[in-house]
Amino acid sequence: MFPKLLLGAAILCSILLFIDCNTVSQEGTRHAQAMRGKEIFAEQCMSCHGMDDLPATKTDLEEKAPDLTQIIKRRKKSEFPVAEIARIIDGRLIVKGHGPREMPVWGEVYDSLGMDKESIRGRKGELVAYLMSIQE
Ligand code: HEC
Repeated sequence: MFPKLLLGAAILCSILLFIDCNTVSQEGTRHAQAMRGKEIFAEQCMSCHGMDDLPATKTDLEEKAPDLTQIIKRRKKSEFPVAEIARIIDGRLIVKGHGPREMPVWGEVYDSLGMDKESIRGRKGELVAYLMSIQE
C-alpha cells in the first residue's frame, strides 16, 4: 500500500515538474523569438510603421501604414489573429480593397534573397511574436 502511494506521488511530482519546465521554456522561446523579430522589424518595417516612440520616416505613402500596436483593438478581438497577420506579412492576404498594395510582399522579398521555406517561416514567426508582444 505505502510504496504504491509513494510511487503515485513521485509520478505526480514529475508530471507537475515537466509541465512547469515546459511552460517556462516555451515562454523563453517566445521571448527570444520576439526579440529577434524586433531586430528585423527595426531593419525592415520601422521606416513605414514607426517603432516604440519613433515615428515612421517614410511619409510619402498613399495610405499611412497602420499602427501595429493596435492590431487586436482595431479588430475588436480578444486574441491576436496569428494566421491572418502571418498571411498579411507574406502577401497571401491583401489587406487593401483597392489600388496596388503598398507594403512589400515579404514572402517574395525573402524568397528573392535566397531564403528557404523553413527560414521564411521562422522569420514570419519571429515578426508575429514581436507584434504580439507590442499589442496595447
Ligand atoms: C513601404 C512601407 C511598409 C513597409 C516597409 C512595411 N509595411 Fe506593413 N503596411 C504598410 C501599409 C501601407 C499597410 C496597410 C495596407 C497596405 O497598404 O498594404 C501595412 C499593413 C501591415 C499590416 C496589417 C495591419 C493590420 O492591422 O491589418 C501588418 C501586420 C504589417 N503591415 C506588418 C509589417 C511588417 C512585419 C513589416 C516588416 C517586415 C512591414 N509591415 C513593413 C506599409 C509598410
